Amino acid sequence: LSKGCSIHRCRRGDVPPHRRVHPVLTQIIVPMATTLIYNIATLGGINRKGRLRLQGSEMAQFETLDNAYLLIQDGRIADFGSMESLPQLAADLKRVDAEGGTVMPSFCDSHTHIVNAGSRENEFVDKINGLSYAEIAKRGGGILNSADKLHEMSEDELFEQSMKRVREVMLKGTGCVEIKSGYGLNTEDELKMLRVIRRIKQTSPLKVVSNFLGAHAVDRAYAGRQSAYVDLVVNEMIPAVAAEGLADFVDVFCDEGFFTPEETGRILQAGAEHGMRGKIHGQELAPSGGVEVALKHNALSVDHLESMTDEDIAMMIGTETSPTALPGTSFFLNIPFAPVRKMISAGLGPAIASDYNPGSTPSGDMKFVVSLACIKMRLLPEEALNAATINGAYAMGLSADYGSIAIGKVANFYITHPIPSIAFIPYAYTTPVIREVYLNGEQQN
Ligand code: NIG
Ligand code: FE
Repeated sequence: LSKGCSIHRCRRGDVPPHRRVHPVLTQIIVPMATTLIYNIATLGGINRKGRLRLQGSEMAQFETLDNAYLLIQDGRIADFGSMESLPQLAADLKRVDAEGGTVMPSFCDSHTHIVNAGSRENEFVDKINGLSYAEIAKRGGGILNSADKLHEMSEDELFEQSMKRVREVMLKGTGCVEIKSGYGLNTEDELKMLRVIRRIKQTSPLKVVSNFLGAHAVDRAYAGRQSAYVDLVVNEMIPAVAAEGLADFVDVFCDEGFFTPEETGRILQAGAEHGMRGKIHGQELAPSGGVEVALKHNALSVDHLESMTDEDIAMMIGTETSPTALPGTSFFLNIPFAPVRKMISAGLGPAIASDYNPGSTPSGDMKFVVSLACIKMRLLPEEALNAATINGAYAMGLSADYGSIAIGKVANFYITHPIPSIAFIPYAYTTPVIREVYLNGEQQN
């Protein structure tokens, strides 16, 4: 090994993550932090080339290995291979029999509002009675109702309630999650939300990134004074958030009836000056310029896109910005689905995410999101799974470490009960398939 390794093409002097458990060795002394998962019928989502996202026709490739093992060391993937080539390992390592289940990389959910002060099923009934999401918002309901509730709630209670949702999505297979603020709408309450997100980051085994969404709606105190509210976001909130290092990203609800592309540009610019890259809501309710402003400011993602046009698709080709679709929102609000099939045909690499929130998507179930992408957007199971794993990780800036099965990546995955094929996962759209969840190489259930 000191001469370098021909199998993994490591150069001499490199310390590859798999070195201590190299498959060409016959007897390996492994520390207790090592776990072997064996008898895996299918190991899915293998990414040998270290791709950070998949685009166009690449999205239909979801590499699998049958009759496999997976070796984890110190929370990362140390090795994997076929059971026939399983190296002889030290007797005292932890062994987990997958019993013919499938192992899949955890979902990477790049768009959620998991921190919130509770449900809004009264609006659900309003929608059944014929009101649209925009009409409810215009009447002063929607996001503003969530802001009222959040204002009344203590930071501790908000944390406890949000952690229940974090645990819920973890048990449904999510391993990385983006969480937004945006139900505070004043500096103090936005900071309260972001501190709760920081506590989740510190205490949950999930990998969490935080996104400051002060411009989610105009606070009631600023009714009729939208530009003064944007000034508050730019001049007070963003510097305060940055001073405490509370957000990785900055977001704006850039849409008809919410914030304009000009206002969005100001906020993205201010965010960039404080080290926060944009990840924005755009073109959900109307083709309102969200894509253009996202690209102008090199946002990491532009999300929703239910009203995306062919021109928007053409504009996104060759950019770093991830188009992110939220199929659960279209399902719940009964609005069109984003044109993800067209995006893939044009060579783009869309992600899909849950948008888990009390108003437009009260579900963080990524398996169901994958099913919806197949059923309603006509994605192949492989394309939908890539969109929900490696491309979701890309849309959070995490795909070097998460989102696929590769040596050196964080060991975030789930083991299923025996299933006939990978396509069964989205096909059986309400069947629970997950047997065990592993995050950082540790079993969570
Ligand atoms: O992504 N579209 C804007 N924001 C959320 C909904 C938030 C809410 O209604 O509470 C969304 O759908
Ligand atoms: Fe959202």
